[in-house]
Amino acid sequence: MYNVHPIAPKRLPELLKRMPKAELHIHIEGSLEPELIFKLSKKNNIPIPYENVEALRSAYAFNNLQSFLDIYYAGASVLITEDDFYEMAHAYFLKAAQDHVVHAELFFDPQTHTVRGVPMQAIIHGLSRACKEAEQTLGITTCLILCFLRHLSEEDALKTLEEAMPFKNYLVGVGLDSGEVGNPPEKFSKVFAKCKALGLKLVAHAGEEGPPSYIWSALDVLGVQRIDHGVQCIKDPELINRLRLERTPLTVCPLSNLKLKVFPSLADHNIAKLLAEGLCVTINSDDPAYFGGYIYENFLQTFEALGLGAKEAYAFAHNSFEASFMTTSEKEKRYHELKVCFESFVEHDA
Ligand code: HPA
Ligand code: ZN
Repeated sequence: MYNVHPIAPKRLPELLKRMPKAELHIHIEGSLEPELIFKLSKKNNIPIPYENVEALRSAYAFNNLQSFLDIYYAGASVLITEDDFYEMAHAYFLKAAQDHVVHAELFFDPQTHTVRGVPMQAIIHGLSRACKEAEQTLGITTCLILCFLRHLSEEDALKTLEEAMPFKNYLVGVGLDSGEVGNPPEKFSKVFAKCKALGLKLVAHAGEEGPPSYIWSALDVLGVQRIDHGVQCIKDPELINRLRLERTPLTVCPLSNLKLKVFPSLADHNIAKLLAEGLCVTINSDDPAYFGGYIYENFLQTFEALGLGAKEAYAFAHNSFEASFMTTSEKEKRYHELKVCFESFVEHDA
């Protein structure tokens, strides 16, 4: 392992910004800023029940996951055309590039759109056009992960998979999101088995608000390679052992957990404990337009609240590449870039 030199605290924000990183937990619909919601609402003639951008933004005060999801799905209702999906993802990639994200794996929720009559093709073609452009113009490698909404039935998920089949080559994998409690992973065992047989990678939200048993069943029943959130694993030492031994990544989203009241404050967040336990934890933004910041803001506020430094910064960035669905040679290239960046912060005596 690389020997990380400590750096002066005043240089930490610059390091957190400049170090190359992967973002593995971003719902692209959660990057829709109020300004773009209003613009698309006017263009597509879809009314939204808020006077203006400020009124909408001030409604972003949540008590739990469900209170957020209600507003998040309302915001996504302005997305109609292929260009709308392109514009949303394009805006995200510009922000991600500023935070030195060099690889991004985007979640999208097709059922939120197909139920309103938006064709699967418009969603996937719009997003993938923005992905291709980000690769060419920003040097960000990308992939798409289709998420099934767990508050809907497994039949609905199977139908959605069928609709996505003509676009299978655009997808690296599938995930599971939306309201967790009462919708355990095993509700989706058939559709995940189908996706596995198709060669798709598998991930699932588990242990955000739900119990450790949901993390066990995401691993054992669905066979996922990564757990999204997973912070409730702290309640189960046997599960922590398993995650450590198998190096199952957790894609943690500190500002999301703060805004949805999973932890009372960032100082109470368990991410530093999970890292110290030897788990492959990463830092991500989840729904940055709703939770008060993109990935750099998540790093900065977490590091300030928990008193973390260069060593942890390196570990989180390294974990983000390790946990990604990049090829081994792509990972090696990013590990090298990470080292070069950290070397550039070492202060040599004159
Ligand atoms: N949890 C579950 N579903 C979601 C989330 C989340 O944090 N964000 C968008 N959909
Ligand atoms: Zn999420």
